[in-house]
Amino acid sequence: QELQMNLEQIEKGGYEHFMLKEIYEQPSAIVDTYRGRMLVDKGMVRMAGMDDNIERFVNAKRILIVACGTSWHAGLVAEYIFEDFARVPVEVEYASEFRYRNPIIDENDVVIAISQSGETADTMAAIKLAKSKGAFVFGVCNVVGSSISRETHAGAYTHAGPEIGVASTKAFTTQITVLSLMALKLAKAKGNMSNTDFHYHLQELDLIPGKIKKALEANEHIKEVAKKYMNAANFLYLGRGFNFPVALEGALKLKEISYIHAEGYPAAEMKHGPIALIDENMPVVVIATKKGHYEKVVSNIQEIKSREARIIGIVTEGDTDVRSMSDYVIEVPDTVEAFTPLLTTIPLQLLSYHIAVMLGKNVDQPRNLAKSVTVE
Ligand code: AGP
Repeated sequence: QELQMNLEQIEKGGYEHFMLKEIYEQPSAIVDTYRGRMLVDKGMVRMAGMDDNIERFVNAKRILIVACGTSWHAGLVAEYIFEDFARVPVEVEYASEFRYRNPIIDENDVVIAISQSGETADTMAAIKLAKSKGAFVFGVCNVVGSSISRETHAGAYTHAGPEIGVASTKAFTTQITVLSLMALKLAKAKGNMSNTDFHYHLQELDLIPGKIKKALEANEHIKEVAKKYMNAANFLYLGRGFNFPVALEGALKLKEISYIHAEGYPAAEMKHGPIALIDENMPVVVIATKKGHYEKVVSNIQEIKSREARIIGIVTEGDTDVRSMSDYVIEVPDTVEAFTPLLTTIPLQLLSYHIAVMLGKNVDQPRNLAKSVTVE
């Protein structure tokens, strides 16, 4: 028993929980993901699974992404990135829905299946269905040699290292990293991105691990925010564009480990219903980085502010507009719009972690959940 405890302590590497360790591992995990693949000096992305099948990708009429949970959220971020960089239509499906609805799919489709464990039953069934219709199936898995990595035609591992905490953290950001590399590679192969732009994005991606380290420095401040709102009964998470899926992921993280009800929404959808929920007891986490839809998000904040909501803004360093409207702001460094999810997701992971710890919940093994869902 005692030996077991000591072993676990060693595995946690000085962190109180696996989840916190895995949150802090993200800078190095992302380097492991792109090492040997992203050759910044040569201006190249090398990924064997894609290089060997580049015609399938270039000729794809569309890309279909199948996944569950957090991996599905990574797929949603990838939809924005692939469409923006590579100008190919992307659809993102819950594997569990896809497999049961007689989907229209053929040999001109490329299917990307995303799974940390590589063992998720619904994702596996979706892959088998897609293969039976002649589609080319590409896996993005973390666990090497997992069932999904063996069932797919080709793939790319995330190389995040073991993820023990049930709440997925580093798997999510490394999935986005792999998918970003894929989108960049495809954009280049299709001639959709200028060399200058391609280079610029490689350089920006190379800066992300350092910027995540910077974002992690907000930890103590995030603890304060957690303390302030830990007793709220509900939370809302809002984002737009590339950061809409991050809002969904932030809400999922909070639900699964703190058992607080939370919902993620595209910020502009508030006025179509959910704004009715807003009162002074509702903390609203708004991702409002100074990119793309910034002005729109600011006006969304004004709408909810006038209904007394408590605003927690996730903002770009140095932001003053959102700060003046928010109860709290948490800063992240600046980057290109497509890579902002890699930074904005960090404070949301820490916020749910601290709230769950303060509420005395079992952070690494939340009730009713398993690390890999091998039943449908
Ligand atoms: C994430 O925090 C969850 N525990 C869960 O949603 C998970 O992402 C989902 O079950 C998919 O798992 P997979 O990536 O191993 O396929």
